[in-house]
Amino acid sequence: MSGPPPGANMAQSRMEMAKNIKDEDKLYKFEGVIYSTIMSPVENLEAARTMEARADDVMLVAYPKCGFNWMVAVLRKIMAAVSGKKDVPDMPPLIEFFSPDVQKLIAQQPSPRFLGTHLHPDNIPASFKEKKTKMLVVWRNPKDTLVSFYHFMNKNPVLPNVEWDKFFTDFMSGEVPWGSYFDQALAWDKLMDEPNVKIITYEDLKQDLSGGIKEISQFFGFPLTEEQVQTIYSETTFSAMKEGSSHGKMGSIFFRKGEVGDWKNHFSEAQNQQMDEEFNKRLAGTKLGAKLKYDTYCK
Ligand code: A3P
Repeated sequence: MSGPPPGANMAQSRMEMAKNIKDEDKLYKFEGVIYSTIMSPVENLEAARTMEARADDVMLVAYPKCGFNWMVAVLRKIMAAVSGKKDVPDMPPLIEFFSPDVQKLIAQQPSPRFLGTHLHPDNIPASFKEKKTKMLVVWRNPKDTLVSFYHFMNKNPVLPNVEWDKFFTDFMSGEVPWGSYFDQALAWDKLMDEPNVKIITYEDLKQDLSGGIKEISQFFGFPLTEEQVQTIYSETTFSAMKEGSSHGKMGSIFFRKGEVGDWKNHFSEAQNQQMDEEFNKRLAGTKLGAKLKYDTYCK
């Protein structure tokens, strides 16, 4: 073996950097939205804005904690299987984590490039819309997303530690990294019928991962044999990914419980009610709201 992959090195060095930064300096606002000072400084966000998308880029989008890294693994394996190249773990594909220098390297990469983002669709670089780049968008029920986000804040050294009740309030008002869950969900709801957009949910993937892998590969036009689907399935279940993690120290941060319904161990009755009311007010009655199957997973 030739040592840790470059992605792991980058994550480790940023974690080292985080040790010298006070919690209160770990977040900042750019155009009204909170971002990580270490991972997404202003120059990254500005460089992303003028990024040149390609029609054949493979773009993965998710609000934080909806299963992004799970789908990173699935998509990398699909692309590796189809191209016949070895599945080498690479740096995180989030465009807002790319420095201006990394952006220049990305511009030189051969197609198809694999990219990702947690950005609100209005803030995704305009050329992705112009080129009609295919985007796979992952959603998860808001209660489990909030719980996962809370633990992530407390485990990831680049983010400040948070206390449960305060984080709950901040999540509900959108004062968390990458902004409001509800604002992003409503924006994607309007884009659901675009032919270059495919929305999948964490809960559906938990129910039927093989089916999800097939749908995703068909959407991007990467045909897989049944055997390839089954191999990717067996390598991307929660236990397989947790055990085989190449994320180094980041592994325990990205792979926590991997379940549906952990919110029941965290929410107070009042918080439960507040979330139900907010969902009713904002997302119930929308197509994405229906796809999230709130009554099944959040009641
Ligand atoms: P929990 O904190 O509820 O366990 P993201 O990658 O968007 O940050 O999402 C992280 C969430 O996805 C975490 O949820 C993590 O455990 C879960 N996850 C990661 N890999 C998974 C897998 N293979 N199957 C199911 N859940 C997974």
